[in-house]
Amino acid sequence: MTPRPPVHLRCEYRTEPLGLDTPAPRLSWLLESPVRGDRPKGCQVLVSSARELLRSDIGDFWDTGMIDANATPGLEYAGETLQSCARYFWKVRWWDREGQASPWSEPASFVTGFLYEGDWKPKWIGARQVQEFRSKGTVLLGHAGADDTQACGVYLRREFVLKEKAVLAMVFISGLGHYELRLNGEKVGASVLDPGWTDYKKKALYASHDVTDLVRDRNAVGVILGNGRHIGSYGYGSPKLACRIEVENESGERTIIFSDETWRTSSGPLQENGLYYGERYDARILIDRWDQPGFDDKSWERAVSVAGYPLVSQMMPPVRVTERLRPKSVNRLPSGAFIFDFGQNFSGWTRLRVEGPMGVEVRMRHAELLNDDGTLNVGPNENAEATDVYILRGGGPEVYEPRFTYHGFRYVELTGFPGQPGPDALEGCFVHSDVGRAGELRTSNELINAVHRNTVWGQLSNLMSIPTDCPQRDERHGWLGDAHLSAEEAVYNFDMAAFYAKFLDDIRLAQKEDGSLPDVVPPYLPRLYPADPAWSSAYPTLVWLLWEQYGDGRTIAKHYASLKKYIGFLSQSADRSIIRSLGKYGDWCPPGSVVPKKAPVELTSTWCYYHDVVLIGRMAAVLGRNEDAQQYAKLAESIKDAFNEAFLGESQYAAIRVSSVDNLPNQTSNALPLCLDMVPPEKKDKILAGLLQSVVRIQDFHVDTGILGTRYILDVLTDNGQAEVAYRMATQKSYPGWGYMLAEGATTLWERWEKLTGPAMNSQNHIMLGSVDAWFYRTIAGLAPLLPGWQAIRIRPHVLGDLSFAEARLETVAGAVRSAWEKAEDLFSLEVTVPVGAAGEVHVPLLWHGAKIFESGKLIWRAGHAVDAVPEVALAGDDGGSAVFKTGSGEYRFELKKSG
Ligand code: BGC
Repeated sequence: MTPRPPVHLRCEYRTEPLGLDTPAPRLSWLLESPVRGDRPKGCQVLVSSARELLRSDIGDFWDTGMIDANATPGLEYAGETLQSCARYFWKVRWWDREGQASPWSEPASFVTGFLYEGDWKPKWIGARQVQEFRSKGTVLLGHAGADDTQACGVYLRREFVLKEKAVLAMVFISGLGHYELRLNGEKVGASVLDPGWTDYKKKALYASHDVTDLVRDRNAVGVILGNGRHIGSYGYGSPKLACRIEVENESGERTIIFSDETWRTSSGPLQENGLYYGERYDARILIDRWDQPGFDDKSWERAVSVAGYPLVSQMMPPVRVTERLRPKSVNRLPSGAFIFDFGQNFSGWTRLRVEGPMGVEVRMRHAELLNDDGTLNVGPNENAEATDVYILRGGGPEVYEPRFTYHGFRYVELTGFPGQPGPDALEGCFVHSDVGRAGELRTSNELINAVHRNTVWGQLSNLMSIPTDCPQRDERHGWLGDAHLSAEEAVYNFDMAAFYAKFLDDIRLAQKEDGSLPDVVPPYLPRLYPADPAWSSAYPTLVWLLWEQYGDGRTIAKHYASLKKYIGFLSQSADRSIIRSLGKYGDWCPPGSVVPKKAPVELTSTWCYYHDVVLIGRMAAVLGRNEDAQQYAKLAESIKDAFNEAFLGESQYAAIRVSSVDNLPNQTSNALPLCLDMVPPEKKDKILAGLLQSVVRIQDFHVDTGILGTRYILDVLTDNGQAEVAYRMATQKSYPGWGYMLAEGATTLWERWEKLTGPAMNSQNHIMLGSVDAWFYRTIAGLAPLLPGWQAIRIRPHVLGDLSFAEARLETVAGAVRSAWEKAEDLFSLEVTVPVGAAGEVHVPLLWHGAKIFESGKLIWRAGHAVDAVPEVALAGDDGGSAVFKTGSGEYRFELKKSG
């Protein structure tokens, strides 16, 4: 049988990427085969400069010939030198384990950006004098109430003529803080809030748009600029633009248009815009046809050249409107205001449809909660106004959607609307970085399904070109603690490779000379250096996660030197291996508190130090830096000893004590060292017993952990034979627990374990407690990588509590992985899918004494022994509670039968 052609061709983790700025991009694809145990004997990649060449199987830029299959996934380009601003076409085929060649894949392409130093020396432009507005509220955390001056929307335009038909027309653009690009009267592309947030002084991102289908002979390009994060209070300034339009025609000639002083600029209807405040849009000022050719812009000012920033291509998925929500209800208040309830907390804005007289002012205020009397509760917004105002132009139906703000909300208060709004007057627009979905999970327990669902909404709401803490109040920063504590759940649910690659660059650029990192990245709040180690631990943790999940060794190599510096900083800050000085937040937000209540901050800081040193040691080994690996192993050993000496008592680790009679073990202090195997062997049972005492006897199966302990405690219990206890904690319905949030009506996850609704630290949409969702995937469905990039997969489901089925499906870099189990009276079935080239390790739980195991109907196991041989399934022993089988790729159905 001829093997199937490769599918899902990607370049640097993206399908058909534009603006690639690495000269050696990685190409990857997936293989599918109905044959069990299939694996590639070889593959061949062709890269061509023209579609026709590729069609004739000519790779004028690269023809790998048949090469070792181990090069996949992620083959680094090593052909002819790639040119900037050019499109390349590529395809791939493979040979199966029998040596049969597949047909070629469908062709894919990528367009390069600026690959080499100096290829684009951008000219940045702006308005000579921007109109300003005085914004309300704070833009800087900790400066509550301070007003700020920001720029009104800046409009820029220019026209250009093309003499011949374009074969490739690209726009490369960085408009700061955010831009909307328009060409010949149309918005270009679906991205919003572009470009992604960075520390602009170090790097600004340019986005790449293919406008080949939009250009004509006479063209007008228009750009609207908003403030975003590019504001004076953060050390930047007024909006600015760097743009380059590059058009190649059929004769191969290029026309290049730059941003320069020939562009014209004006203010316009967008009067106010701020991330936290919202927008004020006066449609009476609308400038008709300003973004079309032939518009008379004589009254517009000339743009001026301004100082700019280094540019890097934006290679992560852009922010987009991914879903449009209809309101669940509309309620009229005695005040005349209307309350729209979208039934879901989310990040984004509302689209207004309205018709009425000129000058009518419609106001939309956004919030997560309502007060008891049905009015909007804006408490959790703190100083974010979260209000959009639209002033009607009159004379027909009008539609308005904001551009340069976003809100975190479920409810909208609509005032000033002319007449009675129908349900279609407002539409909710869900806005976030459009990372692809990678995982699906479903179980027989509706509580788990609901927590999973809330986690997914919460995670997406907090991906806004950086991982944010929350979308509603005046923060929305890249708090590193929140980012890494939810990262594992994020990679199970979404394709995070390119998103985290960009964020890791942000972290690297935020590092100070002494190796220290800030708590938030990009470091818009400069006073937050040096970070709490539990926050800066994000750096090694994310690098390692990309290695485990995506087999991405390039990331390790890229960040290794900076990681070493970071570890050096921790070592210098340590007092005989104990970190006493850096901790600020530690086991943040445990039940009943914001600051840690039980776990000492020195303990959590030092634990993170150990954790990070262990990880960098492993990275050194991956890179083959054996000397480093040995040194880090030694350092880790000495930290472990110091940690135990400082914090380990007779039978428990140190805790913050409320009084002299308080001697109870706490969860975080004991779970963390168990997690990294730091406990001396002779004490391990005692520590575990103390942890169980806390979970079972003292807290009655409730968490007593802050965000750090919560991330690890369920894994620790599971790995120590207490998965049932972990299950009861994870599915706990009363306070504190995820089920309690659900019972109180949460549609995302909260910042605090408590139901709090006032103007304080009580966001209803934080993601830092979302790690439980990774536990569902890993423990209940049982899916985990055994080798980097899912080249070997462990499928070890846990049949817990009253669960009768669970199913999870993942799109990994190696291909689709699935685990689906079902338990009936006398039959347990487990279906698994292992992608081509990967190996499976399947654990079939031995639920009944004397049961037998079948695979696809054949008896394969009885009383601890292999019976019939099924090719590609080999008994590998048992793990205490399950029979363990090794498999190759393919689909398998294991059945455990009580009798028969
Ligand atoms: C943020 C958190 C963050 C914390 C650190 C808060 O205001 O919302 O999620 O990690 O500060 O102190």
